[in-house]
Amino acid sequence: MSFDYEHLIVDIPDYPQPGVVFKDITPLIASPEGFQAVVSQLVEHFSAAGATKVMGAEARGFMVAAPVAYALHAGFVPARKPGKLPRKTLTENYALEYGNDALEIHTDALTPDDKVIIVDDLIATGGTALAQLRLIEQAGAQCIGMGFLMELAFLHPRDLLQEHRALDIFSLVQVNAS
Ligand code: PRP
Ligand code: MG
Repeated sequence: MSFDYEHLIVDIPDYPQPGVVFKDITPLIASPEGFQAVVSQLVEHFSAAGATKVMGAEARGFMVAAPVAYALHAGFVPARKPGKLPRKTLTENYALEYGNDALEIHTDALTPDDKVIIVDDLIATGGTALAQLRLIEQAGAQCIGMGFLMELAFLHPRDLLQEHRALDIFSLVQVNAS
């Protein structure tokens, strides 16, 4: 099955700051066929991986990761921006394509038995994915793969993840030029 994702992804020049081309995926996930294609292709790719949990990062990651978790019969772990989770957390700081931030999970969100897939709408510099990988490691669990709707390959996010090169990193759309 192949789907023309790109015609439903809109380029927004100079947003949120000059020189950045924002990739707006809202038309794609607003399309019933598009949303189905995104979720089902990610699910198909990871269906035999044996994931017990899918992690999604606030906020755009939730839109893709939660339905993938549901379809894989895995649990969903939200990685949230600081101060949003009410109990004790693990925290990872990271550099973003534009700015710095941190992500947190509850200390009991994962156990050492968990096999975790990270799912997000986008991998750009790889900073968000690496922070999630480190949260999984802090919890003593194992990351078994990462799935993205879109990969900004021209930013070379896989270089940042090179220590983890055995990981299955899967993207539906590769963007090769800014
Ligand atoms: C965006 C996107 C990814 C991240 C990718 O999230 O949803 O999570 O950037 O960039 P990176 O690979 O350079 O880390 P953002 O932090 O803008 O927040 P949002 O999901 O809340 O919109
Ligand atoms: Mg995000």
